[in-house]
Amino acid sequence: MKTITIRRPDDWHLHLRDGAVMEGVIGDTSRHFARAIIMPNLVPPVVTTADAQAYRQRIMEVLPEGHRFQPLMTLYLTEHTQADDVEEGKRSGLITAVKLYPAGATTNSHGGVRDLDKVMPVLERMAAIGLPLCVHGEVTTPEVDIFDREAVFIETVLDPLRRRLPELKVTMEHVTTKEGIDYIKSAPANLAGSITTHHLIINRNAILVGGIRPHYYCLPVAKREHHRLALRAAATSGDPRFFLGTDSAPHVDPSKECGCGCAGIYTSPNTMSCLAHVFEQENALDRLEAFVSLNGPAWYGLAPNEETMTLVKHDEQAHFPAKRETGAGDITIFDPMFPLHWAVAD
Ligand code: DOR
Ligand code: ZN
Repeated sequence: MKTITIRRPDDWHLHLRDGAVMEGVIGDTSRHFARAIIMPNLVPPVVTTADAQAYRQRIMEVLPEGHRFQPLMTLYLTEHTQADDVEEGKRSGLITAVKLYPAGATTNSHGGVRDLDKVMPVLERMAAIGLPLCVHGEVTTPEVDIFDREAVFIETVLDPLRRRLPELKVTMEHVTTKEGIDYIKSAPANLAGSITTHHLIINRNAILVGGIRPHYYCLPVAKREHHRLALRAAATSGDPRFFLGTDSAPHVDPSKECGCGCAGIYTSPNTMSCLAHVFEQENALDRLEAFVSLNGPAWYGLAPNEETMTLVKHDEQAHFPAKRETGAGDITIFDPMFPLHWAVAD
């Protein structure tokens, strides 16, 4: 039996939602992960430090007994965000990052940013106090093909912004393209990228071949195979600029299986099993710890976790339920389309 022991991992991009869905899904993260950056795209979004404080409290109230888990809170950047409020959030230790959603880019992003000029005072303050900006890197221009939206964002939005404000620390979240990987590698030390579990496993065929499969639809949408290979090479390289952000994004099944389904893949329950499989396939099990437990904390200026996690490769298949049942309805769990043999030891 093969085993590997690593420091306990963190998830640097997670959607926990609120209410009954949050209550149903939180244990899938807090069972394995010590910390997670919590996305603020609730309805209404988490815009102020007071909103984040209240949301954090709701999270702690539904945390399962005996789980030690630290939610790292973010603010949803709007054109009305106040620099003083952001600074206060960081100084109090509550706020780990601010999230930029270009308006209309994804789920609950209509309150996001349309005009970057309007948020420059906030971004300048963030640069001054060393607070990172987490970026959903896709343009929303209707003329731009959905598969090109990340590459066009880098060229027309991210690179100009970074030239305008070189001191700003930016996390390019859920990178899905070779262009994204190359851009991060070519940048100075104040740019890093998170990579999801599912983008290491699926390419766009998963969504479209043999029928339309809504449970593989997310944003940024999975791209061609050569992009997936670039992501795998980056994630398994040990390069400190790349770390795990699952973007695990639960939606109840009726919201996915319909005429206009929501974007989001729910990977929290089997993410660690999937990643051990991927890293073993790439002969990089010795670099799994860097990707899931070391590079993220170093980037966010935090200490790595002291506790450890052991993963065991069993001869038999590790079984996960097809769905997570919640008080709001069932949520389909990511199916990697290969048998999983790695499991987190209890
Ligand atoms: O697939 C996605 N789902 N991408 C996002 O950017 C948002 C997320 C969600 O909130 O459902
Ligand atoms: Zn997300």
